[in-house]
Amino acid sequence: MLKKAILVGLLAAVVYFVGTTVKMLGLHLHYYKHHPGTCRVVENAGLSSEDFHVTSEGLAFITSGVAFASAPSGFIEFQEKNKGRILVYNFKNPKKGAVGLKIKPSKTLDLAKFKPHGISVLEDKTKGEHLVYVVNHPIPEPDAVEKFRFNPKTNELVHLKSITSNVMTTTNDLAVVEEDKFYITNFVYFNERSLATFEGLFQLPLGGVLYYNGTGFTQVTPALVQPNGVFLSKDLRYLYVNMPMEQQIRVYKRQKDNSLAPVQVLPVYSAVDNLHLSQDGKTLYSTGHPVVYKILAHMEDPAQKAPSQVLQLPLNLKTGEIQMDQASELFYDHGDLIKASTVGSVYENSLLIGSLMDSLVVCDSVRAA
Ligand SMILES: *[C@@H]1O[C@H](CO)[C@@H](O)[C@H](O)[C@H]1NC(C)=O
Repeated sequence: MLKKAILVGLLAAVVYFVGTTVKMLGLHLHYYKHHPGTCRVVENAGLSSEDFHVTSEGLAFITSGVAFASAPSGFIEFQEKNKGRILVYNFKNPKKGAVGLKIKPSKTLDLAKFKPHGISVLEDKTKGEHLVYVVNHPIPEPDAVEKFRFNPKTNELVHLKSITSNVMTTTNDLAVVEEDKFYITNFVYFNERSLATFEGLFQLPLGGVLYYNGTGFTQVTPALVQPNGVFLSKDLRYLYVNMPMEQQIRVYKRQKDNSLAPVQVLPVYSAVDNLHLSQDGKTLYSTGHPVVYKILAHMEDPAQKAPSQVLQLPLNLKTGEIQMDQASELFYDHGDLIKASTVGSVYENSLLIGSLMDSLVVCDSVRAA
């Protein structure tokens, strides 16, 4: 009797695990393509544009060439041929395409090992000398946040310093509050590939959001399952966190001590990657991977098509909440124009979309929300 009960229990657990895994992988999903306006590949951008940050004057600072130690081998091999770069795309001068910025390194930045991931820009609205913070994975060295100053006259990024700590595991994205103060996601815990795969498959909560106060890091959320992109509201009161494994966006309210209080956990039915806000702060754009098994196959073999999707999410500016009943899908592509989108945002009437290992795309004549 007991044996039978244990067997039934075990079987139920296996069925549950297989069922939730099949659902998470999206083996049953199919969507239809739609583009808002005319979309095309941005010239001179090359391949890979994992994250970007658009300033109020319409400059998108773009990271290209991301890789991290525990990523699938196909992904790492692809990116070994791709130099780590920061590009700029000017929405006000689209004919110029994307331009690679010269980087003036300091002692602590080895450009040969530069593998930029998340990016956040603190704007200097008077001189345009923005502070640019970038998550870097200088494999086999531990992760660091690289701080640069942008020189708009010479189109150069001057490296100022590297911020690192043993509490950073594999980090992903950051959101700068003020100079040298930021939120950053601890994304994957294990540095070794098979352990990292295990961590993902079993959705182990070994990540979280950290706050850097200028001298040290503090974890400001409970343990989370692989938190990815982060973005602050325009008034800096709320932090939005993409949770691709759980296919959710989490909204937090910043407290006086910079810790985070949960406001909303929103199911979005997509493995959402990076976030960006519209310039007026009223709309959040969440971009990612609606069919998970296809992005996994694409990371193993970059030639495999993976779909791209940009979600347009209106915000309630008082409560910080996402208004899910007003949410819409702004862009969907099967991977023909752009594979595996990772970030998107609308500036005036143009939608810019970046990707893990594929093109950078811009759509013109977009009717924003
Ligand atoms: C900054 O954070 C570190 C690490 O948590 C802490 O030791 C330090 O006291 C904090 N400094 C300030 C000024 O709050």
